[in-house]
Amino acid sequence: AGAGHGPPPGPGRRNVIMTEKIIIFDTTLRDGEQSPGFSLNMKEKIEFAQLLKRLNVDIIEAGFPISSPGDFESVKAIAQQVEGPQICGLARALEKDIDRCWEAVQHSKRPRIHTFIATSQVHMEKKLKKTQKEVRDLAVQAVKHARQYTENVEFSTEDASRTERDYICEVVEAAIDAGATTINIPDTVGYSNPWEFGDLIAYIFEKVSNVSQAVISVHCHNDLGLAVANSLAAIRNGARQVECTINGIGERAGNASLEEIVMNIKTRQDFFQFHTDVNTEHIYPASRMLTRFTGISVQPNKAIVGANAFAHEAGIHQDGILKERTTYEIMRPAAVGWTGSSMVLGKHSGRHAFVSRLSELGVTLEGPALENAFNAFKELADRKKTVFDEDLIALADEQTRSVEQARFVLQDLFIKIGPDMKPSATVRIQANGESLEGSGTGDGALDAAFSIIKQLTGMQDAVLADYNVGAVTVGTDAQGSARVVLKKDNREAVGRGTDTDVIRASVKAFLNAVNRLCTAAEREKVVTPSV
Ligand code: KIV
Ligand code: ZN
Repeated sequence: AGAGHGPPPGPGRRNVIMTEKIIIFDTTLRDGEQSPGFSLNMKEKIEFAQLLKRLNVDIIEAGFPISSPGDFESVKAIAQQVEGPQICGLARALEKDIDRCWEAVQHSKRPRIHTFIATSQVHMEKKLKKTQKEVRDLAVQAVKHARQYTENVEFSTEDASRTERDYICEVVEAAIDAGATTINIPDTVGYSNPWEFGDLIAYIFEKVSNVSQAVISVHCHNDLGLAVANSLAAIRNGARQVECTINGIGERAGNASLEEIVMNIKTRQDFFQFHTDVNTEHIYPASRMLTRFTGISVQPNKAIVGANAFAHEAGIHQDGILKERTTYEIMRPAAVGWTGSSMVLGKHSGRHAFVSRLSELGVTLEGPALENAFNAFKELADRKKTVFDEDLIALADEQTRSVEQARFVLQDLFIKIGPDMKPSATVRIQANGESLEGSGTGDGALDAAFSIIKQLTGMQDAVLADYNVGAVTVGTDAQGSARVVLKKDNREAVGRGTDTDVIRASVKAFLNAVNRLCTAAEREKVVTPSV
């Protein structure tokens, strides 16, 4: 596709351009979720996949079914419940992986199997201990095996950007001959740059004789901060599918961010001459939902979805914006679902306003969780001068957690700290209708409380892998929000808690993580050897 150089955005500009579609393949629930600390539980994954459907992505990569029973169940549930987008599962180039993947995705009306093998010398020699021929044969066998189940087969040459070019072309040609309908070229370690990566895609188009029989896709990691730029260079050289994640989450420095890819294509349609089918007004709610589920915020200056992405601070900018929006604004905030209001509701706001504001923020609550959240909002509005969006989200979250099938519920917490005394805590929790209580000391009040909870819940060998606490909004009356990551055996669970008291918020988060560790559906990080 050629690159147009249309006029810069300005008032009254109208352009009608015939454009080709770029297929958006979302891998937030696979590559994104596989990075440490980003685990979602099954319910969250399904809710997130429903939002991806509203966003209208073309393909949802829902997980890696053979990697764990939890991943398998989530992919299966998404395949059963989320209609519209294609539902894809990942599989190494092994029959058992592909069989397991099919078991999960077959429930979708539009299933896809995505199989991969590494093709770079370092991966083949050191990781796989296989020759070029062996790897090519495995790729062909895997694609043929997958084709027995479905016509919708994607094949990836892992670490493509560090693979000998002619060898990639050989494997790609063989995979297409074997029946792959999408060929994905990953920059697995984020090593490439836009010039080199664009060139690689052009080379594949030039040298692979059957290239027109498959869609060429790219999957770029962000180790050098170039994932989005590399993906855009690839589409200018013939790629028509981009793999990306909301908020750019993913292994290490993450993947190409969906919102940045989509808004580049939309905002500079005059240049790229492409379009996507994404309903961009759901971008911001999707970003917020992910932040809520993972407890990990995006940096304030993050493009498109960061808190400052549409904030104009400098006087000269504010003046320009007031005179003419396009002086400093290249996208309408509303186009990405950014409503801009931060102080939203007060104590006189009704249930309808509450529900519709939450839904703008990507939160859907029903039944008792909605009832409790609304009551909690009224209480908060009585106590706090201003109720911000962040307060509403924290509140809704707390209620969602409180109606989860929690085995252990916090009843009371007492702490004692002071000069010349060892900090101590007493914790009372409810477990299956029974009240359990414990007291003890620790290096700090939280250390004491966490140890007591471990004893009361039989989680002595759980390890605190991460803990952070922050304020939901500004002001001394702000709610505190805590996030705890607990590991036990090969399982990991993220717990969150919110309270006007940060110590209580932390204890709630710890107990939430304990409950999630107890839930069978929690993800088990089963370490499988690589092919
Ligand atoms: O980064 C990568 O190479 C991958 C593949 C499995 C597509 O995630
Ligand atoms: Zn990846």
